Amino acid sequence: MAETDQAPPPSDQLAALNLTDTVEKHAFSDRVLIRSIVGRPDGGAGLAGQRVRAGGWVKTGREQGKGTFAFLELNDGSSPANLQVIVDAGLAVLSKLVATGTCVVVDGILKVPPEGTRQKIELRVEKVVSLGEVDPAKYPIPKTKLTLEFLRDHLHLRARTNTIAAIARIRNALAFATHSFFQEHNFLYVHTPILTTSDCEGAGEMFQVTTLISESEKLEKELIKNPPPSEVDIEAARQVVSERGEAVKQLKAAKASKSEITASVAELNKAKENLSKLEERSKLKPGIPKKDGKIDYTQDFFARQAFLTVSGQLQVETYACAVSNVYTFGPTFRAEHSHTSRHLAEFWMVEPEIAFADLQDDMNCAEAYVKYMCNWLLDKCLDDMQFMAKSYDKGCIDRLRMVASIPFVRISYTEAVELLEEAVKGGKKFENEVKWGIDLASEHERYLTEVKFQKPVIVYNYPKGIKAFYMRLNDDLKTVAAMDVLVPKVGELIGGSQREERYEVIRERILEVGLPLEPYEWYLDLRRYGTVKHCGFGLGFERMVLFATGIENIRDVIPFPRYPGRADL
Ligand code: 4AD
Ligand code: MG
Repeated sequence: MAETDQAPPPSDQLAALNLTDTVEKHAFSDRVLIRSIVGRPDGGAGLAGQRVRAGGWVKTGREQGKGTFAFLELNDGSSPANLQVIVDAGLAVLSKLVATGTCVVVDGILKVPPEGTRQKIELRVEKVVSLGEVDPAKYPIPKTKLTLEFLRDHLHLRARTNTIAAIARIRNALAFATHSFFQEHNFLYVHTPILTTSDCEGAGEMFQVTTLISESEKLEKELIKNPPPSEVDIEAARQVVSERGEAVKQLKAAKASKSEITASVAELNKAKENLSKLEERSKLKPGIPKKDGKIDYTQDFFARQAFLTVSGQLQVETYACAVSNVYTFGPTFRAEHSHTSRHLAEFWMVEPEIAFADLQDDMNCAEAYVKYMCNWLLDKCLDDMQFMAKSYDKGCIDRLRMVASIPFVRISYTEAVELLEEAVKGGKKFENEVKWGIDLASEHERYLTEVKFQKPVIVYNYPKGIKAFYMRLNDDLKTVAAMDVLVPKVGELIGGSQREERYEVIRERILEVGLPLEPYEWYLDLRRYGTVKHCGFGLGFERMVLFATGIENIRDVIPFPRYPGRADL
């Protein structure tokens, strides 16, 4: 068919043009996003001639033409790219505008810059709408290159830097990808509790949650301000009660009027009330309440010991064993004193749990999910990934492509140990001894994924002695159906397992590892009633961000890192 036959009438043509070449104001603020200008395939050139309002923080600014105008590089966090803004001296005090960190809102016209400039579009300002000034002598985040260590001391301002903003966008994309992946596969998002009374991993690395300490401090202060009654005070109050009692008796004996007796009884009751209050207060003791020499948790907020969760797994299993495919994604807490670049005291975990599924299904799901996230970043975050590649890790984009496209290696723990032993024979030195039964150390995991295979490796069937009680015992009675996903740059990214669904076996395992049965009765009920084969895993979300970005320290990929000795803001 001839092209002219297909061409829409001129008015429609115009409408179509306007639609693609109009930049829309943000739905909930009075300016356009800088991304909607510079993030277009044409770099914004097609928007020339449009009048827009933009706002952002000045990345760099300089006065030009002997102070007759200024160039500003403006960024509002919507994209790694800045909008170039040109302001004439008549519109504002240029020296105030150009300071790094200054916030400006400007109205202007988009123009194509002269030939030879890098930008495809720039904003010629007509009006400076508002200005949030910065004193450059005091601003903690100047234009000079700052180390990530330095920025950790300025958490409240570090999102103003290109790096932390790019990480925030990548992290956001990974969270979106996570929900998208599980929703597409019909998983329900279940919110598991942050406050818990069970220790999932049985590792005793939990933060305790209690009001006993603050309550006892409050009481201590109160007792200083308002000391408890002495024995003398109480005796005096008793005296008053007995005198008032006597008075009532006498009035009754003298057949006094009803109103006189009522008034006297009221006086007596008041005295009794006062006495009991004093006696009650005299019992108050400063310090943490104790019973039989131990802390009395029945007086704590939940009337029992409580903790911050180390994992939502046990609770999410209750939903998996009812509605089959579920996941939880939330903060988890571990009071481990590890000062490594891979551990946080507060981190986020993604934990799917699948009913009617075994260890193979678990590995398939983990692999598909990691690949999905890699593809998502390549698709939706390439500009930020390019920034990371340029500034931190040349190989990060290739790594995403590689992981997205090749099958993960799968080896048993026993094979993994054999490979490590071979490496040792070949002269490889590890700090931790290699032999069957050890928990693989980070150096072993990284050797397997970075040196031996140079791709993700799933290690499965670990010795039961080093794994949690809930993992399914294999027929060899020595190993459990556990699996860890190891990836280059990070080591362990995912830990998961098929769960022990056999009542007798899991009961035995709980006892074997020395845990009390009583707190796990509800967990045993899932096996007592309508038990089902099921499995799941936990992905350390910050480790995924580390893997994607190539950033070295986990403290830089979570907005507010918590680790031993530090919990700023
Ligand atoms: O291997 P973990 O301890 O497994 C569990 O907690 C299971 N309950 C998960 C499940 O099966 N539902 O932890 C899972 C992942 C690890 O592979 C690691 O990526 C991450 O959580 N992780 C940490 N990330 C940062 N800081 C820490 N202190 C971490 N501890 C574990
Ligand atoms: Mg683990």
